[in-house]
Amino acid sequence: MPKDYDVAVLDGPGDTDYARYMKTDVLLSLQRTPDEWIHPDELLFQTVHQSSELWLKLAGAESERAATAIDLDELDEAVALLARASRCLRSVTEQLDIMRTLSPADFQTIRTVLGHGSGFESPGWRQLRETGKALVRAFAGHRERHAVDMLAVYTSGRSTPVLRCAEALVEWDEQIALWRTNHYKMLTRVIGYGVLGTKGTQSDTLVRLIDHRVFADLWELRTQIAAVGPMGTGIDG
Ligand code: HEM
Repeated sequence: MPKDYDVAVLDGPGDTDYARYMKTDVLLSLQRTPDEWIHPDELLFQTVHQSSELWLKLAGAESERAATAIDLDELDEAVALLARASRCLRSVTEQLDIMRTLSPADFQTIRTVLGHGSGFESPGWRQLRETGKALVRAFAGHRERHAVDMLAVYTSGRSTPVLRCAEALVEWDEQIALWRTNHYKMLTRVIGYGVLGTKGTQSDTLVRLIDHRVFADLWELRTQIAAVGPMGTGIDG
């Protein structure tokens, strides 16, 4: 008897196994419906925010796993997980672009239904901020346990696990700054300069956050290396 591939075999709500496993019925019911909309672009607005939350959830989970891997001195594993998390962040950054198709006037209509809701309350970003602290602690712990001199690591000219891990952390940190840069440029385009956000923050003050560094010491190392100048070339100056 040939298998009937159209028959759903999994448990749960939905007509198909795809719907049952992916929970698409629930997922697709999470957006406001046309009779609730104050403006049709609410679907765009909710889609970008909701999908960002999913990617941030994954980025946060992989970053937490990376912190655990560093605690266990499994640096190659951490590098792979951090690379995945950074790709999630890049994807969240790219999807901000579609917000640029939202007209400033239409956004003013949409924001009347947002209450005091603001990106500062995003669970995905909150989790990432906490995970950033866990990664800082984990990498400091690894360096302490193994008495690692990071300046020596960076100037040795060798690609060691600890160097690759440090660079994966820098990449992660940079992706957050790139998201903030894109978010800042996008929001000033949509909302303007000097305008108060839904949490009362003046829109253009967010530019200051772009330079926030989670792994401040790894960025500082670059400055130290620049101060020392060319190494190992035998050329003075
Ligand atoms: C039209 C689109 C958007 C506009 C006009 C906008 C505007 C703003 C404004 C004005 C703030 C300052 C806080 C306040 O007073 O509300 C803010 C903060 C923030 N927004 Fe957005 N935003 C948009 C889309 C997004 C999206 C898609 C996300 C993704 C989750 C997001 C995440 C955040 C976060 C995390 C902050 C805190 C600041 C930071 O950590 O850099 N925003 N946004």
